[in-house]
Amino acid sequence: MLNIDWNSLSNDDLYTIAENLKKEKNCFILAHNYQNMEVQKIADYVGDSLQMAIVASKTDAKMILLCGIKIMAETTKILNPDKKVLMSHFDADCPLANMKTPDDLRALRKKYPDAEVVCYVNSPAALKAESTITCTSSNAEKIISSIPEDKQIIFVPDKNIGAWVAYKNNRELIMFDSYCYVHEQITLEETMMMREEFPDYSLIVHPECSLDVCKEADLVCSTGQMIDFVKKNDRVIIGTEIGLYDQLKYHYPEKHLVPLNLKMVCKNMKKTNLQGAVRALAEEKYEITVPEIMKQKAKKSLDRMLLFI
Ligand code: 13P
Repeated sequence: MLNIDWNSLSNDDLYTIAENLKKEKNCFILAHNYQNMEVQKIADYVGDSLQMAIVASKTDAKMILLCGIKIMAETTKILNPDKKVLMSHFDADCPLANMKTPDDLRALRKKYPDAEVVCYVNSPAALKAESTITCTSSNAEKIISSIPEDKQIIFVPDKNIGAWVAYKNNRELIMFDSYCYVHEQITLEETMMMREEFPDYSLIVHPECSLDVCKEADLVCSTGQMIDFVKKNDRVIIGTEIGLYDQLKYHYPEKHLVPLNLKMVCKNMKKTNLQGAVRALAEEKYEITVPEIMKQKAKKSLDRMLLFI
């Protein structure tokens, strides 16, 4: 395996090698909905963050390869402390996750010592470890509404999801000013223009978009929930990272789908390609580790999240 001339292989060769390696190593491959279609094809499961966490917490494979970004691989490792968890690319990181440090969060907790800390899943393990509970775009609203009205809530790190769930729950949240550059860049003006161009289409957006854009949408939801919506609707504007649009076009070619904006490309998600993912598995290259204490604390926060499915 080590002497393979990787560049001489076709995609079909790579699919065959991936299948053989999965069996040989007893490896389960998880891929996020934003991954390239060629990568999704080698995955045992493709989904959104909550769906991936649920599946990761149940697999009895010996090894897991996570095709996505580092925070997702960390979450997988925390939920599977005894398994070998590999990442598909060594520096597929998340700028949103790294905009604030655990020290920033500790400073906020000091200022609001009685507040519950809700941490969006696109965060490093160190931030999850400082939190009461983790949430994803699927269950953020439910988790916030489960916290008693008289409790203050610190919501980190994504200010846009925070603003959306604060609006939906009519709650005030204490937040950072961090954001996902892929979703934040979409303006209300661009969104209205798409509405005008496609008047009989539904608009669905991810809650990492700004509050103005979310308020304009017919549905604000996770990528997994977007797939469910498209299954039941024929004309839809897709307001999230372009990988989801590509996946939907592939599976539902008969539907009328348009991306909200072609510039919604996550450079980190796109670092993984088919050859890179198969090589990561063949050579077991990018193993994820999380320091023990941090892992234990972050697991409590993630286990609480898994009660909200
Ligand atoms: P989902 O959990 O909705 O798939 O979102 C993940 C993400 O990274 C959004 O940018």
